[in-house]
Amino acid sequence: MPIISSPQAFNEEDLYIDLRPIFGRSLFLKCEGFNFAGSVKLKAAAAMVEAAEREGVLTPESILIESSSGNLGVALSMIAASKGYRFLCVTDLRCNPSTRRLMEALGSQVHVITEPDANGNGLLGARLAYVRALCASDGRYVWLNQYTNPHNWKAHFRTTAPAIARQFPRLDVLFIGVGTSGTLMGCARYFRERSRPVRIVAVDAVGSVAFGGTPGRRMIPGLGTSVRPPLLDESYVDEVVRVEEVDTVRACHRLARGGFLFGGSTGTVVSGALSWLARHDGHDLIAVALAPDLGERYLDTIYRPGWLHDVYGEGVLSSDDLIATSRPVSSTRFTDPATRPAAASAAQ
Ligand SMILES: Cc1ncc(COP(=O)(O)O)c(C=O)c1O
Repeated sequence: MPIISSPQAFNEEDLYIDLRPIFGRSLFLKCEGFNFAGSVKLKAAAAMVEAAEREGVLTPESILIESSSGNLGVALSMIAASKGYRFLCVTDLRCNPSTRRLMEALGSQVHVITEPDANGNGLLGARLAYVRALCASDGRYVWLNQYTNPHNWKAHFRTTAPAIARQFPRLDVLFIGVGTSGTLMGCARYFRERSRPVRIVAVDAVGSVAFGGTPGRRMIPGLGTSVRPPLLDESYVDEVVRVEEVDTVRACHRLARGGFLFGGSTGTVVSGALSWLARHDGHDLIAVALAPDLGERYLDTIYRPGWLHDVYGEGVLSSDDLIATSRPVSSTRFTDPATRPAAASAAQ
C-alpha cells in the first residue's frame, strides 16, 4: 500500500495497454499519465527541482519560472506548492484552458504569450524571450530551462527507459514523441548502451522543426516545437515519423471509442507508430509507444466537435478511421501467450 506525504512521490510506472483490440496491430502503450501531475513531465520537473536544490540554486526566496506548453507547468506547480516555492509559468495560446486553471488552482501565476516571436521562432521563441527578460529584471527568478537542462533527459534515463526494459527485455522498437526531446534522449541513450539493439523511432508533428523542415501551424500542445531542441542528438535516433494533426485527432478518437481517453500527443505517437509498423510489416516485432498524458485536459479542444470544425474544417471526424470496426479481441490483458512480453522474450 503506497502511502505518500508529497504528491511527486507517487508515479505509476508499469501500466501498458495492448492496442490490438482497438487497432488490430500489436503495440503496447506505456501510460505516463497516472500521477498527481497527470503527465510524463512530472519526472523531468522533479529531477530538475531536486538538482537545483542540491546545487544550492533554489532558496526560499526564489521564484521558479519556466516556459511550458502546459504539462511541465502543472508538474512544477504541484512540486512548488508542495515545497513552498513560488512559480510563474510562461505559456502560450495553445495551452489548454483547463491546464491553465490547474496551474492557477495549485497557486501558480500563469502568463500567456499571444504573439509569435518577430524573428520567426514562433510562440516558443516569444515565450523564451519573455522568460529571459524577466530573469534579467529580477535576480529572484530561477529558470530551470527544460530545453537545455540535462536533468530533463537524465530523469528518463534513470526511470522511464529501465522500466520499459524491465517489462520488455526483448523490445524491438520504441516510439517516442518529441517536445524538448528529454523523454526521447533519456530512453535513446539508455537503450544505446545495452547490448541488444532497440530501434528508436522519434514521432514528431507536421509543422514542427525538431528535425528540420519548415515551421507550420500546430494547434495541439505537447509535441512538436518551433525551435530546434538543444537536447536533441539525432545520432541516437534511428528514424523519424511525422504525423499530421488530423491523424492525431483521429487516433485520439479511436482510442476514446475503445474507452481510453488520451491527450493529443498520445494520438500523434500512436498514429505514427501504427503507420511505421504497417510500412515495416511489423507484426512480429515487440513494439512499445509512450503515452505522455491523459485526455481530460483536451475536452475543450480535441474532444470538442466545435473546436475541431473551427480548426480543421468539415470532415475530420467523418473518416472511416473513427468507426472502430477492427476488433479481433474484445478485451485482453496479455491473453495471447505469443504476445505476452515475457513469453515473447523467452521465445527469441
Ligand atoms: C503532452 C505532452 N506530450 C509530449 C511531450 C514531449 O515530451 P519531451 O519534452 O520529453 O520531449 C510533452 C512535453 O511537454 C507533453 O506535454
